[in-house]
Amino acid sequence: MGCLFCLENKFMKNKILVTGGAGYIGTHTCIALHEAGYDMVVYDNLSNSSREAINRVSTLIGQPIEFIEGDIRDAESLRQVFSSHHFFGVIHFAGLKAVGESVAKPLLYYNNNVSGTITLLEVMVEYDVKNLVFSSSATVYGDPETLPIDEASPRSCTNPYGQSKLTVEHILADLAVSDDSWNLIPLRYFNPVGAHPSGQIGEDPNDIPNNLMPYISQVAVGKLEKLSIFGNDYPTVDGTGVRDFIHVTDLAQGHVAALNYLQQHASSKSASDTTGSVGFLPINLGTGKGTSVLDLVAAFTKVSKQPIPYQFAARRAGDIASCYASADNAKELLGWEAKLSITEMCQDTWRWQSKNPNGYLLQS
Ligand code: NAD
Ligand code: WQD
Repeated sequence: MGCLFCLENKFMKNKILVTGGAGYIGTHTCIALHEAGYDMVVYDNLSNSSREAINRVSTLIGQPIEFIEGDIRDAESLRQVFSSHHFFGVIHFAGLKAVGESVAKPLLYYNNNVSGTITLLEVMVEYDVKNLVFSSSATVYGDPETLPIDEASPRSCTNPYGQSKLTVEHILADLAVSDDSWNLIPLRYFNPVGAHPSGQIGEDPNDIPNNLMPYISQVAVGKLEKLSIFGNDYPTVDGTGVRDFIHVTDLAQGHVAALNYLQQHASSKSASDTTGSVGFLPINLGTGKGTSVLDLVAAFTKVSKQPIPYQFAARRAGDIASCYASADNAKELLGWEAKLSITEMCQDTWRWQSKNPNGYLLQS
């Protein structure tokens, strides 16, 4: 049918606002969205990212990305964006993510991650956009009682970063109860690693990395001298921590799968072909497999052919022994499962790190 309403409806169903889309997971997701036929507008305050990342995504997809520099706490700026586009929904990556920094600066984290999300949701209400995919985290499970961790597992957090994610989840659940036209999918990521296979985009920590994979890759490239492995007396296969590392391009595909699910199941006042309401539907994005710190070091050494000196150090405060997902719901509901192996995660990280030893900083 070629009626104007249908054309408008089709257009609305394909346009996505991507907050935090200039960041690590956001850039990879923009590529996956483009490949899946979605249009996007990226909204980011560049507090932990750069225009160069957006430029590279544009080059990879072969067309300019619509980018707006703005803060999710700025309602007026968000209104301008919503009034000039008809969005089907929002993928909400924007947030601060450093656990240690959140302990030192809790107000910053609650303001950015919680208040920012409330402002975004309020503007979404004003423009009647009720479909949201939110970046949650396996951190909401705290120290899990059972493994693998499924979505019904108890949630608790010990640091302000985790609390900010858990608080947003509570807000989203309350919203879904208050109004059944909301369709809200918090995706609980396990440990995202890896980079785009082109080696053009990847994780670019501002400072010395807190997370294991970027630390290992910076040791391999010679930027850092030695890895400290935090704890070798955990009740795990080799005494080191066990995590569910997931390739960032698999994670990006998980967002496309969540959006596709919303397209099929979300209630919408303007769409005649929808079937119901999603409400609040949290979903784990992980591989379901645990890998120890020592196993990851060994895999990276093999792939990079570089020495990765390490020493054992005391356990890091707040760390848990083991964490890996039950990814059954993602498979059953979204038709998504992670495909890429630890070797591929290391290969792609290494390609990105060795081609861009200084991340997005342009060489002079
Ligand atoms: P990132 O820092 O690379 O990306 C976040 C982006 O949000 C950055 O580009 C930053 O500039 C932007 N941003 C931050 N505050 C903003 C604000 N107030 N207004 C507008 N933009 C803002 O982080 P990432 O690794 O891509 O993570 C994306 C999301 O996923 C975050 O919400 C993070 O908490 C969550 N998450 C990340 C991991 C992980 O290990 N990387 C794990 C679980 C959940
Ligand atoms: C993994 C393992 C460390 C660094 C964090 C956040 C979580 C989520 C993902 C956002 C652990 C060990 C690490 C190092 C080490 N982010 N390690 N030496 O802690 O599972 O999760 O990132 O939501 O909220 O807490 O990831 O990569 O920091 O650590 O030995 O220099 O590597 O002790 O066992 P973590 P990580």
